[in-house]
Amino acid sequence: MPEAFFRELVDAAAMPYRRSGRYAWHFAKGKLRGDPVFRFLLRSATLPARGRLLDLGCGQGVLMALLQAAVERSAAGEWPPDWPAPPDLELHGVELGRRRSDVARSALGAGAAITRGDIRDAPLPQAAAIVILDVLLYLDHDEQAKVLARCVAALEPDGVLVLREANAGGGAAFQVTRWAERLACWSRRQWRQPLCYRPASEWVALLGRLGLDAEATPMSEGTPFGNVLFVARRRNDAHANYPSVD
Ligand SMILES: C[S@@+](CC[C@H](N)C(=O)[O-])C[C@H]1O[C@@H](n2cnc3c(N)ncnc32)[C@H](O)[C@@H]1O
Repeated sequence: MPEAFFRELVDAAAMPYRRSGRYAWHFAKGKLRGDPVFRFLLRSATLPARGRLLDLGCGQGVLMALLQAAVERSAAGEWPPDWPAPPDLELHGVELGRRRSDVARSALGAGAAITRGDIRDAPLPQAAAIVILDVLLYLDHDEQAKVLARCVAALEPDGVLVLREANAGGGAAFQVTRWAERLACWSRRQWRQPLCYRPASEWVALLGRLGLDAEATPMSEGTPFGNVLFVARRRNDAHANYPSVD
């Protein structure tokens, strides 16, 4: 990936966060630059070209900001010829936190719908892509399964579910991830926030029980963490057999 182009793209994506203060701006730049999942999603053509993208637990919406900036660059004819065309999606984020959802709304403007809500019960419209990055760990195991079942019900037949979680079977890298997350919770005074992890094989099995075939890819390059990205699509035989949601 031409690094200079990606840095410029990140700077453009982060710029609208200046309206919400220096922290939101620097956070957006740091997250988009340092977390390999964003480069992966731009370079891999994992996301569909058109349709609705639901970003569940979107935080301040940095993925959607990156996609907006990418579409603008591409429309201006400034796009590396060897990269897939950026997906031009109808963006919809759901976020529990008031401050984060406000920041997302302010940065993304009219180009994205941001709902403040809980992914355990917020209405999920039909979507061509559902992305859940580093969120399900905050739910218990039953809730995780129910949210994923709701996602499967909301996913269009050819849709894709993109999930990232830490791999509890990941040895030392998992312990680093777990402790970093625990410290982050403490820094937010969330002393009792439960954190529920599963080994990667268990995530794949759970998605399989819900009728999805999932491909697992390590997604921590350049960081000390032990995260895995699951890209899951409906099995053909599961089209007529959506799991029950509630
Ligand atoms: C680690 S952040 C990840 C944010 C975003 N997905 C990203 O990758 O930048 C986790 C986010 O999930 C949100 N969250 C946690 N539980 C949630 C729930 N039940 N419903 C909606 N959002 C939730 C948190 O408020 C937080 O913004």
